[in-house]
Amino acid sequence: MKHIISPLDLTCNELDDLLSLAGRIYRHPERYSQVCNGKKLATLFYEPSTRTRLSFESAMMNLGGNVLGFSSADSSSVAKGESIADTIRVISYYADICAMRHPKEGAPLVASQFSGIPVINAGDGGHNHPTQTLTDLLTIKELKGDLNNLTIGVCGDLKFGRTVHSLINAMVRYSGIRFIMISPDELKIPEYLRNETLDANNIPYTETNVLEDVLPELDVLYMTRVQRERFFNEEDYIRLKDSFILDNNKMTYANKDMLILHPLPRVNEIATEVDSDPRAVYFKQAHYGVFLRMALIMTLLELPEPE
Ligand code: NCD
Repeated sequence: MKHIISPLDLTCNELDDLLSLAGRIYRHPERYSQVCNGKKLATLFYEPSTRTRLSFESAMMNLGGNVLGFSSADSSSVAKGESIADTIRVISYYADICAMRHPKEGAPLVASQFSGIPVINAGDGGHNHPTQTLTDLLTIKELKGDLNNLTIGVCGDLKFGRTVHSLINAMVRYSGIRFIMISPDELKIPEYLRNETLDANNIPYTETNVLEDVLPELDVLYMTRVQRERFFNEEDYIRLKDSFILDNNKMTYANKDMLILHPLPRVNEIATEVDSDPRAVYFKQAHYGVFLRMALIMTLLELPEPE
């Protein structure tokens, strides 16, 4: 049985197949409206979420399936001290597949070791967020046509942002990829990503704390919010939260076909005036997330393409 704990749990071929299926679903959603008849998705969310949980639920409903689950730790038996292992053993009898978000790094991996159904990591602490990354890849592939030969700027909280960590992990498998890391000094990417992912794969990257300087070089700008909930003290958060604000003035430095992605939620880092710029694709990206999750559910349940 296959689980998705990291974006690297899919081979490059499997990933290509998944993105192609998501593209077909995007173009003809009606063809897929019955493929999950009688199937159930459980959403086990121990941490807040809007898009990820609801897009999983929407995806399963679009496929004709049903959903059940909880949206906070206090509304589940974890509040009584139940372990992840026990919870997942039982959920395996109630659903065919599950998506789990948890504040502790590695919790979905532990769940997968005790699970009788496929487990999808829907975000584990500051670690990984594979379905967001797959959504990001689908967005770039659909709108740029290719995942190779890109200069990608990642901006904001590169220390705690799991979407950034997952994206870097996934992108190093493509050729001609170059990263520009844009962050305050305190929020630079973690050492393990530098050593084990970027350096180990000979991926060129530079670091800066001036967004305007690098905007002209970028094919994709991946903006992120400062992850308040992962800070140890509020003063640091307040000092760093508005380090980068993308506005129309800064956008005059960017290429005419640069894409702006953001996993959302946005706080202050993109001025709302940018939303009407055709290069701002973050809402479209959230829309692609539904089709990506539909494709992922079908793939993990090994459901055939409908006739
Ligand atoms: C992200 C997350 O949860 O890591 N949100 C999401 O799933 N789209 C990004 C964030 O919270 O900043």
